[in-house]
Amino acid sequence: MGTSGLIPVDWIWKDGEFIRWQDAQLHLLSVAVQFGASMFEGIRCYQTPRGPAIFRLKEHIRRLHDSCHIYRMPLEHSQDTLVDACRDTVRKNGLGDCYVRPMVLWGYGAAGMNPVGSPLETYIPAWPWGAYLGDDALTQGVDVCVSSWSRAHPNTFPVQAKAAGHYVNAQLIKMEAIVNGYVEGIAVSPSGLVSEGSGQNLFLVRNGVIITPFLDGSSLAGITRDAVLRIAADLGYPVREQYVPRESLYTADELFFTGTASEVTPIRSVDRIPVGAGSAGAVTMAIQKRFMETVRGEREDARAWLTLVD
Ligand SMILES: Cc1ncc(COP(=O)(O)O)c(C=O)c1O
Repeated sequence: MGTSGLIPVDWIWKDGEFIRWQDAQLHLLSVAVQFGASMFEGIRCYQTPRGPAIFRLKEHIRRLHDSCHIYRMPLEHSQDTLVDACRDTVRKNGLGDCYVRPMVLWGYGAAGMNPVGSPLETYIPAWPWGAYLGDDALTQGVDVCVSSWSRAHPNTFPVQAKAAGHYVNAQLIKMEAIVNGYVEGIAVSPSGLVSEGSGQNLFLVRNGVIITPFLDGSSLAGITRDAVLRIAADLGYPVREQYVPRESLYTADELFFTGTASEVTPIRSVDRIPVGAGSAGAVTMAIQKRFMETVRGEREDARAWLTLVD
């Protein structure tokens, strides 16, 4: 589960070479440590009949490049280089099902707010990681709350960049939820409309229609969100992006989270109010099934979403 610790493996890719897991160290005063100036991705690799395959790797690396661009980081590794480096990292560590976490960060150098001139370092760790929201989450569903913390105003943080510093907000949402006995929190946007979970996008099902909040500048354009929008349409469900007021969470027939870590996780209650029948919903489970078959390479990869490691 998400609270469990990291599982160390042998090698981490660093700027074109492999270093030992335990040697991937930073100075205390690195800009990334002081100010959260680190761009990252979270990517899953799955064991498939054709060997390990990384799901939507190119899209994740594109987003990493975009994050660096937004934050004026002069990333010198091309997208192709980083795609290959992710594959190499999984292969070198002999991993199958695992999580890949590329990171581009400002290292030791600047003391003040301008990081330019400090070294820019790129790392790619990977490790085995199970179901993020708990072992039963994918089958039973999770109990969540609406967070007392909101997402930031769109002109405060550029949320389409996955910057580590943004995630202190996510930690507040997550810790508050856990302390109050929930698995996860759903945050609203500065305008008070539903945004997303601490690290997941959100979907509602109502009268057979699949609904997800607009990308209004308060939530991440999740790659799983995009995959699920397409899968839902493939399965014949009407799909709609719209503004979602908080009370729609309580009256939805079904709710579920999507994300690389969370995959497709049903939500069975919000603020102790049961969602629908109070268990994992049928539409959610149909989408989850198609999603898992897709990532595990059990279906034809018509959209070329899988990058084989070997
Ligand atoms: C804040 C936030 N929202 C949504 C997601 C889901 O995005 P994706 O499906 O690309 O993993 C993530 C995970 O990366 C996230 O950190």
